[in-house]
Amino acid sequence: MKYLLGLDTGTTSTRALIIDENLKLVASSISGYKLITPRPGWAEQIPEDWWIASIKTIKDVLNKSHVPPRDIMCIGLSGQMHGSVFLDNNGKVIRPAILWCDQRTYPQCETIYKIFGYDNFIKLSYNKALPGFTAPKILWLRENESTNYKKISKILLPKDYIRYRLSGTFATEVSDASGTILMDIPSRNWSDTILDGLQINRDFLPNVYESEILSSRVSKEASELTGLIEGTPIAGGGSDNAAGAVGTGIVRKKRIMDSIGTSGVVFAHSDEPVYDPEGRLHSFCHAVTDKWHLTGVTLSAGGSVRWYSEKFGPTIEIINNYPNMRGYGLIDSQATKAPVGSEGLVFLPYLSGERVPYADPHARGVFFGISYRHGPDHFIRSIMEGVAFSQLDCLSLMNELDIKSDSIILSGGGARSGIWRQILADVLNSKVITLNIEEGPAYGAAIIAGKGCGIFSNIEEATDKIVSEVKQENYPIPENVEKYKKIYPLYKSLYKNLKEDFKKLSDLQ
Ligand code: XUL
Repeated sequence: MKYLLGLDTGTTSTRALIIDENLKLVASSISGYKLITPRPGWAEQIPEDWWIASIKTIKDVLNKSHVPPRDIMCIGLSGQMHGSVFLDNNGKVIRPAILWCDQRTYPQCETIYKIFGYDNFIKLSYNKALPGFTAPKILWLRENESTNYKKISKILLPKDYIRYRLSGTFATEVSDASGTILMDIPSRNWSDTILDGLQINRDFLPNVYESEILSSRVSKEASELTGLIEGTPIAGGGSDNAAGAVGTGIVRKKRIMDSIGTSGVVFAHSDEPVYDPEGRLHSFCHAVTDKWHLTGVTLSAGGSVRWYSEKFGPTIEIINNYPNMRGYGLIDSQATKAPVGSEGLVFLPYLSGERVPYADPHARGVFFGISYRHGPDHFIRSIMEGVAFSQLDCLSLMNELDIKSDSIILSGGGARSGIWRQILADVLNSKVITLNIEEGPAYGAAIIAGKGCGIFSNIEEATDKIVSEVKQENYPIPENVEKYKKIYPLYKSLYKNLKEDFKKLSDLQ
């Protein structure tokens, strides 16, 4: 039997898994690390923490699986997008990585528009310049930490930093590289026009390959640390969203996924690059050769529920009523106590600003309509409803571009919540399904590796089976759909009415 190893450098943890050549999960391992928020709106991590978690999970998964390391045919990497790892000419990390959810680079986005012109930049990059993306982070470093900037020899994305530690090779692949907004999306390579305009040295960037290409091999040093065999090939892999989509079978037209992790990502496959002159959705290369995708991102989706759960938790009453339940199960049970519409409590999920549909780093979370009647049940349910409305914002933009599907495949931690699945079906007014296999980005990265080393001849065919095995289905309930249709316009107008105040609040900080 041949085996593949997938490794995902996520925002809260790293996950390693091993699958066999029939796509069956053999074993997995997870290890967490901290998020640093030196100021409101800032988010950083220490790349060394990702590496320590990589070593730990690879060793652990090899151990648990009993798979001889020589039977691992190939490794696939995935990771949180847009993070900037700055390396000096000794390959040492210069400062903590600035993450996808960091909002500090708003002024640098304005600079990018000044250099190219707003419409022209979208024409060049197929995307808006948004604070979470990588390019403005590079400009931020140049303006704010010039000593650090002068030390730069390479700039890597999180998973490509792990590739460097595993192999000593600098390389990236098209899906993650898209999130730098330094790419020419149709030709799937770095854009000299954008690099020249921003005066970013091309040599700072690694070569960009198709995701399946075996661009590196496990080094002797990494082999000693992890137990992997020296020389094991490492495929490009993919961004967490693109790799997650591969692992969920979103590799053919008319397939749309909604992944509720820390962020909420509505992801649609496309056979062509999608250019929207307003750049309302992210238009990136897919991790499947010569395919593309569109995504709409809500920055705080599962993150909003996690925030509530960590700060306030379930009530004592709920804990006593469900003695065998733990964690998010209790939070779900609490939410089911509130009726559809949370009796007039409306939540805007902009805890760390927003990307789609409003590119607004100043936006913040809002509970609107609080009365004496409302308690924790309502608060949790309204968070789930607010996130679902934000996913509807993303899906509606896709529909406007004529990208549609008969059903939405749900994935990520949020898809495990029965009540949230029904809320999503009702708000999106669409059948939503979950699949038997839902192993996330590391699983997709392993499949991409399988294509790279020739175990699979075609990613589409390899993953069709995954899509055909449905675990749960939720259908919209007409009565609920009608209720949500009435609340949605209010949800939309709240942001419009508060837009200026969000900015004033930010100026006060
Ligand atoms: C996508 C995005 C997030 C991160 C974190 O554009 O910023 O989904 O990839 O997972």
